[in-house]
Amino acid sequence: MPTYHTLLRLEKLFPFSLSICLSECQRPNTLNSQVVMMSGEEALTQQQPPEQEGKPDEPSPAASEAPEESASTPAAAEETPLSYRALVLTGHGGYEKVKLQVKTQTRPQLLAGDVLVRVKACGLNFSELLGRQGLYELLPAPPVIMGMEGSGVIEAVGEGVKDREVGDRVIVLSRNGMWQEAVVVSANLTFAMPEQMSFEEGAALPVNYVTAYMMLFEMANVRPGKSVLIHMAAGGVGVAVTQLCQTVPDVTVFGTASATKHETIAQGGVTHPIDYRTKDYVEEIRKISPKGVDIVLDPLGGSDTQKGFGLLKPLGTLVVFGAANCVTGQKKNLLAMAKTWYNQLSLTALKLMQANKSVCGFHLGYITDEELIRTTMVKLLELYEQGKIKPRIDSCYHFEEVTDAMRRMQERQNIGKVILLPEAKTEEVKSKSNPEPVEKVEQTEAAVNEKEEEATEEVKAEG
Ligand SMILES: NC(=O)c1ccc[n+]([C@@H]2O[C@H](COP(=O)([O-])OP(=O)(O)OC[C@H]3O[C@@H](n4cnc5c(N)ncnc54)[C@H](OP(=O)(O)O)[C@@H]3O)[C@@H](O)[C@H]2O)c1
Repeated sequence: MPTYHTLLRLEKLFPFSLSICLSECQRPNTLNSQVVMMSGEEALTQQQPPEQEGKPDEPSPAASEAPEESASTPAAAEETPLSYRALVLTGHGGYEKVKLQVKTQTRPQLLAGDVLVRVKACGLNFSELLGRQGLYELLPAPPVIMGMEGSGVIEAVGEGVKDREVGDRVIVLSRNGMWQEAVVVSANLTFAMPEQMSFEEGAALPVNYVTAYMMLFEMANVRPGKSVLIHMAAGGVGVAVTQLCQTVPDVTVFGTASATKHETIAQGGVTHPIDYRTKDYVEEIRKISPKGVDIVLDPLGGSDTQKGFGLLKPLGTLVVFGAANCVTGQKKNLLAMAKTWYNQLSLTALKLMQANKSVCGFHLGYITDEELIRTTMVKLLELYEQGKIKPRIDSCYHFEEVTDAMRRMQERQNIGKVILLPEAKTEEVKSKSNPEPVEKVEQTEAAVNEKEEEATEEVKAEG
C-alpha cells in the first residue's frame, strides 16, 4: 500500500503574503499530530504507511492509486491518518538545524480554490542558506518549513477549481513551505508543466528564471548589442540570466565564477568567464571592454555593488538583488555582515543624475502583484517549449541528504540548480552516486570555517 502523503496548507501566500504555512497544530481539523524526528536511514523504515488506525471499514487511502475517488470522497479522506516527510528548520545555525521529520495527522479538508499537490521535486535556493542562518527576513521564525518552489502532481482539487484536475503536473511557486511531500496551495499558485519538462526542471524554473527575466527585461531593459555582467554565473540565477541573454541578439555576457566551472558556463553562453577568486574582475572586464558594461546584476552586495556601479557605462543599469557576501560559513558571520553593510553603495540623487546611471533593487519575495508573476511564468514556459531556455540541474538529493545539498551550494561546487527530492531514498538509488563528480574547487575561506564549526559541534555533542 502506498504511503499516504500530505500537507501543510500553504496559506494564500501568493503573492507572498507574510503569513506563511500553518503548522498542523493550527489547522482546525488536525488531531493528534505526531512528529517523529529522525535521520534519513530511520526515515526509510518509519515512513511506511501507518497501520490502519481503528476504523476497519475505512476505505483504502491509496490516493495515488485512485486519486479521483479519494478527491471525490472528502469525508473518507478526512478520516484517513496521514504520514508525510518534511524538512523542518528547527532553529538558526548550521546544517544540522534542518531536520527530516515524519508527521502523522488527520487529513485537512481542501478549501474552495485549493489543490493538493504531491511534491516530486523542490528547488534549493541561496535564500534558504540565508534563512537557515536567520538572515532571510521573509522567513518566519523556526520551526518552519522552507522551500519556495517545487513541482508535482495534483492529487485532489477543492471546490471551484476550474483549470486544474487531479493528475495534472504542475509547478508551484511559493514563499516557503515547499520542502515537504505534499502541500495544499491555492490553484492560482500552480502552473501547468509542459509535457516534456521533468519534475526536476519544473522545480528549478520559477525562482531563478522569474528573477532573471524581471531583472533583465523589466528593469534593465536588455536589448541587442548590450553587455551584461552577472556574478555567481554558474549558479541557478546565473545560468538563467545567461540563457535569457541569448534570446536577445548580440548580447555579451561577462560572468564571474570559480575557475573549474568556466568551460561549462562558456558552453552555456557566457562570453567572458572571469575567475573572481584569483583575478580582479574589474580589471579583467576593463581589459576587454574599456568603457565597462551596460548592465550589472549584483547578488553579492557590499564593495561589489560599488564596483558594479563604477563599471557601468553612461546610461547603464545596476540591479542589486542579493547579499551573498554576508555568507562565509555555516553560521551567521557578524563581521561579514558588518563589512558588507559598511561597504554598500551609498549615493545621493544628485550624484546619480550626474553619473547618468540607473540603480535598481529587485526582490522576488516582495513582489505582491500576482499577475506580474503569472505573466512572467507564461512567457518563461513558452521559451521553454521553444527550446530557448532549459534549467540546468546540477544535482539531486533526497530529503535525507539535505545536508549534502546545502553543503554543495555553500561550498561553491554547484553548476546550475540543486534539487531536493521528497521521496525516500531506496537501496537501489543509494547505490548510484548522486551528483556528477565535480572537481573539488580550491578550498574556500567558507569551507575552512565550516570544517572548524563542525569539529566544534562534534566536541560539544560528545561533551
Ligand atoms: N532578490 C531576489 O529575488 C533573488 C532571487 C533569487 C536569488 N537571489 C540571489 O541570487 C544569488 C544566487 O542565488 P542562487 O539561488 O542562484 O544560488 P547559486 O548561484 O546557485 O549559489 C551558489 C554559487 O554562488 C557562488 N557564490 C558566490 N558567493 C558565494 C558565497 N558567499 N557563498 C556560497 N556561494 C557563493 C558559488 O559559485 P562560484 O564560486 O562559482 O561563483 C556557488 O556555487 C544569491 O545572492 C541569491 O540571494 C535573489
